[in-house]
Amino acid sequence: MQSSNAPVTAASKKQKNGTLTVTDNRTGSQYELPIESGTVRSTDFRKIKSEPDDFGMIMFDPAYMNTASCRSSITFIDGDKGILRYRGYPIEQLAEWCTFLEVAYLLVHGELPDKDQLADWTRGIAEHIQVHENLKKFMDSFRHDAHPMPMLMGAVASLSCFYPSAKEIFDPPERQMNMYRLLGKTPTLVAYAYRHSVGKPYVDPEVGLGYVENFMQMAFKRPGQKYQPDPVLVRALDILLVLQADHEQNCSTSALRTVASSQVDPYCSVAAAIGALFGPLHGGANEAVLLMLDEIDSIVKVPAFIKEVKEGKRKLMGFGHRIYKNFDPRAAIIKKMADQVFSVTGSNPKLAIAMELERIALQDDYFVSRRLYPNVDFYSGLLYQALNFPAAFFPVLFAMSRMSGWLAQWEELVQDSEQKIARPRQIYTGHELRNVPDAFRYR
Ligand code: SDX
Repeated sequence: MQSSNAPVTAASKKQKNGTLTVTDNRTGSQYELPIESGTVRSTDFRKIKSEPDDFGMIMFDPAYMNTASCRSSITFIDGDKGILRYRGYPIEQLAEWCTFLEVAYLLVHGELPDKDQLADWTRGIAEHIQVHENLKKFMDSFRHDAHPMPMLMGAVASLSCFYPSAKEIFDPPERQMNMYRLLGKTPTLVAYAYRHSVGKPYVDPEVGLGYVENFMQMAFKRPGQKYQPDPVLVRALDILLVLQADHEQNCSTSALRTVASSQVDPYCSVAAAIGALFGPLHGGANEAVLLMLDEIDSIVKVPAFIKEVKEGKRKLMGFGHRIYKNFDPRAAIIKKMADQVFSVTGSNPKLAIAMELERIALQDDYFVSRRLYPNVDFYSGLLYQALNFPAAFFPVLFAMSRMSGWLAQWEELVQDSEQKIARPRQIYTGHELRNVPDAFRYR
């Protein structure tokens, strides 16, 4: 029996083609539906009618638990085997051997860049790292304690006003330019949001610094002082960006694809994705994990917290995943990285609480029976905290990484001739026809 989370791949496609015979027992009619790549087109079910003037059968799938929305060649996940590959390369190898900019290029263009391609890509992004001076005023307009995710969402959406030509989404050079702008400006906007939150002046990008190094100096440089981040921490952040760069049709990518399907510009589409990622069930989970660890505060309180989770009163944030049902490969890599980072920054007392939560959860039937394991967000927050970012910035750092995946998915969507404007159907459960009461008519 094919495991429930086994994905449909080219390799398994052979035994995944054929036909499905459906008998409608209401009418006794039989229908032959083609199976392609292990899927059946929902629109093929429209042939199934109980009456001739029937609209035809539609599929009901709240939260798209079992619905493919597109064909994509960007990311492959096998939830049962804990496999994650970008364009066929295992995440473990990319995290070990590649930089975030190389992986961003891979996601968008389909291949790892050669020396010249990487030089052009890096230069294109570096040329767009500055933001319009008015965006500093935009950042200043928020309270000091405004959450940086909606700030980033607003700033990215406002780029649609600064670059109106971005609506020419079918023009490849225009698309490329806007990808450079988003990959270049996002770290600057994140750094400015951080500086605003701590009441420090903005630090402009420095020519010649690497992508992560430049971001860190814009965030942490003290006025008048040279900023020299520890290379271990620079590489750790680079790897975190690689690990979270794409994840096929997750909630925020699906939001991006839905909004982009109306053929709006990439800035409005990405802003929608940032909004989705902010949710505590999605990219906001890494911040929620730290708040949860802060609340637990000591190992002795872990059993009581686990008890509340099992009583359904709380969620164990950073645990569980719609696709991964044995382990999230990214969590395993991040956990391994923790030792290197903490050897530079000093250990984080919350790590012991996190490891105790994981130890108990991995042997407790409540979690095991529901196939709940640590996901990417369980440990990433601890590393972001070790890099001196406040918890509110963890989802923003996730967005900085996922920007590359969102742009790759957007590029694929724009060129996908099968795609149209996303417009699902519904099961209507409201009133039948009724008339406005006289009391409203004759006043
Ligand atoms: C990300 O999709 C992606 O690829 C996302 C992501 C990416 O890279 O884009 O991987 C990033 O979003 C990771 C997930 C971060 N979210 C969290 O850590 C929040 C905590 N986790 C959950 O809320 C939950 O596990 C989800 C949202 C991640 C997945 O939810 P599902 O697949 O809809 O599963 P479910 O909510 O239906 O849960 C099934 C059962 C339920 O119990 P019963 O009703 O059967 O009794 O498991 C329970 C849930 O109550 N459950 C949890 C739990 N997660 C699920 N119970 C306690 N703690 C949890 N964390």
